[in-house]
Amino acid sequence: MPSTSPFGFQELPAADKAAAVRGVFAKVARRYDLMNDLMSAGWQHVWKHHLVQSVQLFNGIRLLDVAGGTGHITQLLQQRLAKLGMVGDLQVVDASIDMLRVGRDRFFDHGWPQPTAWVDSVAEALPYPDASVDAYVIAFGLRNVTDLAQSLAEARRVLKPGGRFYCLEFSRPTNPLLNRAYDAYSFAVIPRLGQLVAGDAASYRYLVESIRRFPPQQALAERMQSAGFAQVDWVNYSGGIVALHRGVAG
Ligand SMILES: C[S@@+](CC[C@H](N)C(=O)[O-])C[C@H]1O[C@@H](n2cnc3c(N)ncnc32)[C@H](O)[C@@H]1O
Repeated sequence: MPSTSPFGFQELPAADKAAAVRGVFAKVARRYDLMNDLMSAGWQHVWKHHLVQSVQLFNGIRLLDVAGGTGHITQLLQQRLAKLGMVGDLQVVDASIDMLRVGRDRFFDHGWPQPTAWVDSVAEALPYPDASVDAYVIAFGLRNVTDLAQSLAEARRVLKPGGRFYCLEFSRPTNPLLNRAYDAYSFAVIPRLGQLVAGDAASYRYLVESIRRFPPQQALAERMQSAGFAQVDWVNYSGGIVALHRGVAG
C-alpha cells in the first residue's frame, strides 16, 4: 500500500484515508441520492443508464456493485435483468455501513427486491474467492479508494477469466473551454449546494477535489492494463465529464 493517499487536494497517511472517506459518506448518506440529482442536474441518470446498458447480462450472472453505496446501480441492473426475463446474484459492496443502511431501507420502502447481499467491505480486500464473479461494476467509487492499484488487482482477482470490469467515473472534459466552465461550476456551486441541501460544504468540496485528483481517461486505462485487464477501452459522456472504462479479465 502507498504510504499516503490523496484525500481531495490533501495527502493523508494511507491508514487515515479510509476513515476520512467513510466520514464523508456517513455525513452525506441521507441526502446522497438527492444531492447527486441536484449536482449533476439529473445527468447522473443518463450516465448510469449508459453503464447499465453496457453491462453484458446473462441468466444467472454473478455481479458485484463495488462502492455501490445506496445500491442505485444494482437497482437499475435488477430492473434490466427483470425486463430481459433473467435472474442474477447481484451484491452491493461498500466501505460505508451508513450508505448500505440507507440503501437497504430505500429498497425496503420502495418494495424493490433486495440484492443478494449488502456487503460492508473495502474494494482493496474483497471477501470473495479468486475467479468467482462474472462482472464487477464500480460507479463513482474508484476515485474514493485508498489504494487504486490494489483495488484494480482485487477486481482482477475475483473476476473469472473473461469476466467483465466496468468503471463509471468522473474524468476530464476533452474540450478546454468545457473544462474551464466545469471547473468553475464545480468549485463555486457544488460546495454551496452541499451546504444548502445537506448542511455540509466540506464533504462536497472533497468530492470535487477528488474528481480533479483522479487519473484521466488514458492514465486510468493504463492502470487497468497494469492490473492485468485486456481489451481496455473507454467511452466519454458529456464531453468527457464522465467516462466509462471497460476491461476483460485475462
Ligand atoms: C460517490 S459514492 C457512489 C455510490 C454508487 N456507486 C452510485 O453510483 O450511486 C462512492 C461510494 O464509495 C464508497 N467507498 C469509498 N471508499 C471505498 C473503498 N475503499 N471500498 C469500497 N467502497 C468505498 C463510499 O462509501 C461511497 O458509498
